[in-house]
Formats: sequence, C-alpha cells, structure tokens
Amino acid sequence: MTLKSSVLQLLENNRNISLSGEQLAQQLSVSRSAIWKAINTLKKEGYNINAVTNKGYQLSENTDIISIEGISTYLKKDYSSNNLIIYKTVESTNQEAKKQAADGATHGTIIVAEEQTAGRGRLGRSFFSPSKTGIYMSIILRPNTQASDAVRVTTAAAVAICRAIYNLTNYEPQIKWVNDIFIGEKKISGILTEAVTDFESGTVESVIVGIGINFKTQDFPDGIKEVAGSIFSENSTELTRNQLVAEVINQFLDIYQNLNDRKYLDEYKARSFIVGKQIEYFKDNKWFTGTAIEIDNNGALIIQDQSKNIITLRSGEVSIRRKHNDKNQ
Ligand code: BTN
Repeated sequence: MTLKSSVLQLLENNRNISLSGEQLAQQLSVSRSAIWKAINTLKKEGYNINAVTNKGYQLSENTDIISIEGISTYLKKDYSSNNLIIYKTVESTNQEAKKQAADGATHGTIIVAEEQTAGRGRLGRSFFSPSKTGIYMSIILRPNTQASDAVRVTTAAAVAICRAIYNLTNYEPQIKWVNDIFIGEKKISGILTEAVTDFESGTVESVIVGIGINFKTQDFPDGIKEVAGSIFSENSTELTRNQLVAEVINQFLDIYQNLNDRKYLDEYKARSFIVGKQIEYFKDNKWFTGTAIEIDNNGALIIQDQSKNIITLRSGEVSIRRKHNDKNQ
C-alpha cells in the first residue's frame, strides 16, 4: 500500500472527524512532511480535503470519488479480501470483466468504473454512463451450475440493489421483472447478466453480473429521460457512491452464498410491481400482450397470453405502460 493510499484509507475511515498531520504521521510511522505531500497529491487527484488549523485534515462532504479505499471502508469483513479493480474510464465494465475472467480472474472479483464510454444494456441497448454521478460495476462469479441459473443471479442482484438502497436511504425501490429497479415512476438501476459457457459441456465458466445505478445522474438524453431517473438529485446527499457500491456487494454476496435456498425470491416477489398487470412481453423477437400472473420459484415470469395459454418467460423483456421503446434505458 502506498502512503497516499494509507492516508486516503484513514480519511475515508474517519469521514466525520479531522485527523491532525501529527496523528496521521504517527499512525503511519512517517514524517509530517510526507503526510503533507500525500495530502497534496490527493488534492491534485480531485479529493476535496479540508485543512483546519489546529484540527487537521478531513474529507469534505462533497468528495465522492470511487476508490478501493472508499469502498473497502464499508465492505463486510468477509468480503474485504475480494479483488477490487477501479477504472476512471472503460468502455464497459462487463466487457472488461469478461476479459479479466478469460485471463483467470477469481470468483468475487469486482470491477468498478467512474465512467463507461460504451455502457451496455439489455437487448443491445446502451446504458447512459456519464462520469462521477453513476455507479457502473461488474461482479465476476465462477459458479458450478448450469446456464439456466443465470436468471436467478439477476433476480438476486435485483434484491441486493433494493436492500442496499433501502438500508442506506430508506427509499423502497421496486422491481420490474426481470432486471429493472424503480423508485417511484423512474428506473434508477438496471442489471445485465452475461454467462460465458463452455460450448461442449454446457457448464457456465463464468457469470458477469453488471450493475448500473443512476446515483445522482442528471441530463439524461432524449428517449431515456422519459423513463430514467436518479436516486438523488445533484449534490442532495452526503451518502457516497463508495458506500452504496460496498453495500450492494455486501448484500449480493450474502444472497449469492445461499442462492439455492431461494429465500430472497420472496423479497423479489414482494418488490415486483408487474404481477396482476396487463403487459407487453418480448419473446422470439416479437412483442405480445398478456397478463403477468406470478413469478415462480426460479425467478421466471408466468404470463397468461391473449388465448389464455400459460407461458413461462425465463428471460426477456416486459413493458407495462406502452409498447416497447428501443431507446428505453
Ligand atoms: C439494462 O438496464 O438494460 C441493463 C443495464 C446494465 C448496465 C450495467 S453498467 C455496468 C455494466 N457494464 C455494462 O456495460 N453494463 C452493465
């Protein structure tokens, strides 16, 4: 760990109090001038650090930069040794995760970026991913399961995101099957789960769970802004993205450890808002109309079509209010 990183870790761990140069120097067994240099480097990197005479250094409330030090401050002990990789900018964290999985990245490796230049959504859509305001992360899993379980991984991620947001904000997010998280009328998060399968055995080599959260994202482009929203408006919260990233990881890995007991699905069902509603659903490259009847114990959506046939949708896309919209985030 570099000195700069150790100083940042201490500042993140003590967001509510000022730490004097002397305290920092003593704790890290270095000189005060070394601390001063590390603080200056952090400032140059964009950290807003208040330096109050006779009190010391403190991260300002509006400092919200994604970092390993910031995330690990809030990770549960069980997960603190997981491999965390942070990028300022990538095309897509899912794409990056796939590359790293192919290069042997271990189960539980997490890639997080400040910005994506080609963030991907489902059905070939893009995911609006501007810098500094959103959360873009991918978790690499090495499951020993069949491909059909990928849908349960998506439902597990949906519950983890809802729990994390609820725990930190008291908002009650709702789920639009299968991968969209809403607060009120607005979609604030989406999940893109991609499985890399061994063609011959049909077993899943790795699963990439990609999570995008509009934390305080503004200025959504036309075609997206009708549906997309953010958890917070600009600078309206002291909560940091690091805190939410860590809480999503904590919640997801907790659920994932017991994925087979399916208990989390009760919460998934309770937070789902399409059951009982007339929907449009996308199947075999076409849109159909039907009624959402229930979500089964595999996370699949049970639909009654217009001829009263019962259909099980294991993956796909549904829409309630209007016909599909290709630019829909
Ligand atoms: C959707 O709403 O259609 C899914 C959106 C998933 C977006 C996330 S952001 C992190 C990860 N990397 C990507 O390119 N996509 C996912």
